[in-house]
Amino acid sequence: MARQEQVRNFVIISHVDHGKSTLADRFLEITNTVPKNEMHSQYLDMMDLEQERGITIKMQPVRMNFNNFVLNMIDTPGHVDFRYEVSRALAAVEGAILLVDAIKGIQAQTLANLELAKKQNLVIIPAINKIDLPNAQVEKTKEEIAKVLNISEKEVFEISAKKGINIDKLLEAVIEKVPPPSDLQKEKAGDRALIFDSKYDSYKGVIAYVRVFEGRFQNAEKIYLIKGKIESETKDIGEFRPQMRSIEELKAGDVGYIATGIKEPGKVRIGDTITKALYELDQVEPLPGYQELKPVVFISIYPENSNDYGLLDQSLIKLKLNDPSLYFEPERKEVFGQGFRCGFLGSLHLEITIERLKREFNLNLVVFAPSVVFKAVDKKGKEIFIYSPTNWDEAEDKEVQEPWAKLEVMTPSHYLGAVMEILESLDGQYIETNYFSAEKLLLVYEIPLREIILGFYDRLMEATQGYASLNYSILEYRKADLVKLEVLIAGEKEKALSRIVPNQKAYQIARTLVKRLKKFLPAQQFNVAIQAVIGGKIIARETISARRKDVTAALYGGDYSRKRKLLEKQKKRKKGMQATGKIKISPKVFLDVLGL
Ligand code: GTP
Repeated sequence: MARQEQVRNFVIISHVDHGKSTLADRFLEITNTVPKNEMHSQYLDMMDLEQERGITIKMQPVRMNFNNFVLNMIDTPGHVDFRYEVSRALAAVEGAILLVDAIKGIQAQTLANLELAKKQNLVIIPAINKIDLPNAQVEKTKEEIAKVLNISEKEVFEISAKKGINIDKLLEAVIEKVPPPSDLQKEKAGDRALIFDSKYDSYKGVIAYVRVFEGRFQNAEKIYLIKGKIESETKDIGEFRPQMRSIEELKAGDVGYIATGIKEPGKVRIGDTITKALYELDQVEPLPGYQELKPVVFISIYPENSNDYGLLDQSLIKLKLNDPSLYFEPERKEVFGQGFRCGFLGSLHLEITIERLKREFNLNLVVFAPSVVFKAVDKKGKEIFIYSPTNWDEAEDKEVQEPWAKLEVMTPSHYLGAVMEILESLDGQYIETNYFSAEKLLLVYEIPLREIILGFYDRLMEATQGYASLNYSILEYRKADLVKLEVLIAGEKEKALSRIVPNQKAYQIARTLVKRLKKFLPAQQFNVAIQAVIGGKIIARETISARRKDVTAALYGGDYSRKRKLLEKQKKRKKGMQATGKIKISPKVFLDVLGL
């Protein structure tokens, strides 16, 4: 048998929490990829952040040996914000295990990820997970899967990733059903590898995670990146076990890494093709690569210490290597100096990125209110993008527009009332209901994107005990009635808290905002007024009462005149402070207030 005949490349895809990482653990065990004494749960979630949160953020490839076959598996995230990870992993493989939770059944991201896998023409192997649970609905879930995939119920595997039931059968099915990798264009010249992920190493330069489609790659070879237009020499070649391990070469069909030696992270783009420097430039065609996803949620990030601007710049460039869906662009704000406007695929993506910047790059950041990008269109049709409340004034006398999204919420019919209540409270439009099965339906709405970027997911989960699920796609810009809401704290405008809000809901939002500020801002030694303002008019107000410090505590007995003197002195000091009182808001308070 040719070597390629014994290689199988596949991914595990599912809705969030249906058990991909747990299944990956079992695969690592039965293939003896990770020694028993080193094994721990969710082994492939290699970031501390992933372990702590119990969610997968990054895809993770691993090479395993089973029954004389080489299995290259990529574990993928399930949350909608990390869908770019999934789509990139799909382009590196020939098959996908579609995992469905036996209690929750098919959910929104099951369908969305399945669509992506079908577009890549992958072989789909469906499996119901968590059959060990006493309330597992195996038959019902099987019916759902068979219907969606248009297959017989017999073809659906029943497994328990936790208890290790039928794991070997599933791997055998991967070997039997997923085709081995094939050379794409044997007749054409070229060694070609697709970069599907990367990270930075200070010694070896950018390490590209690759799927080799043709030819072979070895150490100390001259390579060329077609889109990056850069030549270099490989510093190491290897595979994922799942830790990186050097090997002699990577051949067509293999998944592994190439340490490129390139020290300029910006030059290595995910989706680029690595070839050999020996070919003439037009001799090798680039691989199709990926369609870039547009960020939908924007925030401004500034270093707490302005001297850290350079560090923040470098950190973002390095982080982008590992997270190509991250978008950033330098900007300047008075008071805060230089920072970046950053774009994300959703609010979890935003939250995780800020956390990664803090942990991996040791940065203290000031983070501004997230927003979508609004548009102001003048009478001649000229468009200006409004990225933050700072340039809201430019929208004056112009028609303001905002991005809309098509939102699909899948819910058991049992929770329909609760879900409808939330959806109807938003500024959207009901489109239709699709009955997925007798007990499950898919509600389709069109909705301003701003309504779903903050807090919506949590509300939905809370109302349905985690049973509802959602997916959304971006539609066009539509006309909007918006105003700029500003916040004064102790009389000072706190620009970072300004936001653009719908006129109709401005009062309600202002009330919530000042209440939250009151809750999270630490008390000072004087009363602090929190005011929400629109166009110079105060529309909501709260006061944080002074923290009383008992300056007389050290006095015993009844020395009244001395006590009064101390209290008078304190009063005077407070007055002085109040007059000049600038309250420093820590980034933590910002995040708390924003509900992140
Ligand atoms: P994301 O990557 O964040 O989408 O999650 P995931 O799909 O990797 O799910 P994960 O493996 O983290 O499992 C989610 C939860 O389900 C964990 O608490 C697991 O312990 C649990 N779980 C996974 N498989 C099984 C199973 O077969 N039976 C039971 N009872 N629980 C399971």
